[in-house]
Amino acid sequence: MNIEEAIRTRRTIGRVKQDPVDRALIERLLDAAVWAPSHFNTQPWSFIVMSGEGRARLGEGYARVAASLVPELSGQELEDRLAKERTKAYRSPVVIAAVCSPSDDPRAVLSEELAAAQAAVQNLLLAAHANGLGAIWRSGDPMYNPIMNETFGLAPQDQIVGLIYLGYPDMTPPEPKRIPATAKTVWLV
Ligand SMILES: Cc1cc2nc3c(=O)[nH]c(=O)nc-3n(C[C@H](O)[C@H](O)[C@H](O)COP(=O)(O)O)c2cc1C
Repeated sequence: MNIEEAIRTRRTIGRVKQDPVDRALIERLLDAAVWAPSHFNTQPWSFIVMSGEGRARLGEGYARVAASLVPELSGQELEDRLAKERTKAYRSPVVIAAVCSPSDDPRAVLSEELAAAQAAVQNLLLAAHANGLGAIWRSGDPMYNPIMNETFGLAPQDQIVGLIYLGYPDMTPPEPKRIPATAKTVWLV
């Protein structure tokens, strides 16, 4: 698949099979990710790959964040709620947390550091698609909660920019909708 075909045919795939994904294949995706551009070549990204029981860490993060938000719950009600949160981490056989650790280079700009890490995520998504995998880039409030950083042993200034749920597709994605580039472009000539 050439690059333009991969870009045009990639879709968010939110439902995947639990079949395992070869470690060597995941390593290939990560290798594609790290070829993203970054201003001053700071390469501010890093990745936490979770599979099998490794996903429990993310489940714990979801549960700890949820617990902090419902101090009124206790007993069985709280346990049920936390169990539900933990299951979220098991929606795919592999979950990759993409982290931006902003450079301390005084020239570095935070928005650009985040942009670089996000570009790395797009590389990863495209490589996943080109290799027959389905993926969804998930985010949401729990991901941005400082408790999630703590759970992964990340520094306060680190930012998780995406939770990439990966696996072999178990759905046909809906018809893609895109506003054509012509409607998004002004030419100054
Ligand atoms: C930064 C970012 C965060 C996203 N977070 C979520 C999410 O939390 N849940 C979700 O269902 N999709 C999420 N998405 C995926 C978008 O919903 C999806 O890319 C969009 O609907 C376009 O569909 P496509 O990827 O198939 O082209 C996210 C995408 C980006 C770029």
